Amino acid sequence: MRLATPSGFPTEVFLLDKPDRELLPEGPWTLVGDQRLRGAWALAGMPEPAHALWVAVPEEEKKLRTVIPWLEHWAGVPLHREATVVALGGGVLTDLTGLAAALYLRGVAWQAWPTTLLAMADAALGGKTGADLAAGKNLVGAFHPPRRLVACTDLLTSLPERQVENGRWELVKTALIQGELAWAVEMLQEGPVKVPWVERSLAFKAGVVHRDPKESGERRLLNLGHTLGHALEAASGYQLLHGEAVGLGLLAACLLAEEQGLKPFPASFLEPLARRLAPFAPQVAPWRDCLPLLARDKKAQRAQGSTAEAPLTEIQCILPRPGEPAVQRALPPQAWESPHAKLLALLHQETARA
Ligand SMILES: NC(=O)c1ccc[n+]([C@@H]2O[C@H](COP(=O)([O-])OP(=O)(O)OC[C@H]3O[C@@H](n4cnc5c(N)ncnc54)[C@H](O)[C@@H]3O)[C@@H](O)[C@H]2O)c1
Repeated sequence: MRLATPSGFPTEVFLLDKPDRELLPEGPWTLVGDQRLRGAWALAGMPEPAHALWVAVPEEEKKLRTVIPWLEHWAGVPLHREATVVALGGGVLTDLTGLAAALYLRGVAWQAWPTTLLAMADAALGGKTGADLAAGKNLVGAFHPPRRLVACTDLLTSLPERQVENGRWELVKTALIQGELAWAVEMLQEGPVKVPWVERSLAFKAGVVHRDPKESGERRLLNLGHTLGHALEAASGYQLLHGEAVGLGLLAACLLAEEQGLKPFPASFLEPLARRLAPFAPQVAPWRDCLPLLARDKKAQRAQGSTAEAPLTEIQCILPRPGEPAVQRALPPQAWESPHAKLLALLHQETARA
């Protein structure tokens, strides 16, 4: 099924069960694929192009040094500027392959074939490609949207359960940005992830990134849960997966919103949320480890009128509201201290109850 996208949207979006060779590029193409998917790709009857690269890219290798051999490989072929690169894998692989496609000959076309729930519902759409630097995640990159996104849910059958659950958190985030509590509660219940949730998430993200492709306003809402989430992810030494850290960040953002005078979330939402997050309590880093990471946030800014040498004093925080869209507010990193403490208290309370 081809999803409806706004007129002029740079990416055609398909949500299917089985991979379909008709959706591969019409002209010359090559592939960068996660080696874990090689068997499934062949079993699905999908062709392997000349000069394909089958790779393993763990999150710790989401680095520029990983893509340089790919670029050298393409230049050695040589891959023509009219060729299209197909990326088959999770968010790490689609972010890196999109970046390599943006860099090679100053930009060749690419297609994203995401194979994790997180990449299908979020990472592969929106044109952000990137790699990590020593100073932080995704600090280098380019806006380079894929021409086509093809999400095939049959490819998820080999995905480990923890990775599936990891993707669920970006779906819950999508519901909370819109204030859609009933949808969020449905997704927090036990039971499998449903394809219509992915469809809804893709449609929502397509609208947001189309209206604000370079993140000058509305697109920042997609960072809900990521402010404290990124800090918790890094402070755990990446023991927490990205989505798990975002889930913790979502609960903390609900608590911060209330502290900022916004409408409180009902216990009927906060409790199931905390219950699902309770197993991660041991990986939640103490506040003193989170603060320096928050102050280094990519979206941090200096207070108005202060000099360039002044410490970073405010970060853009996204605050959710029940029944209404989330709002943005610039707050000092210290504003997260109390929600961090309340988050831990709620998780421990749910652990004791279980
Ligand atoms: N560009 C964006 O807008 C955006 C948005 C959100 C997240 N991201 C990025 O996405 C990345 C996380 O992506 P992820 O959660 O997909 O993790 P990932 O790419 O690391 O994949 C998780 C693991 O699953 C394996 N895998 C992938 N597909 C599989 C399958 N079908 N069967 C079995 N194993 C499979 C991978 O080899 C890997 O070990 C982060 O780097 C994050 O920054 C980007």
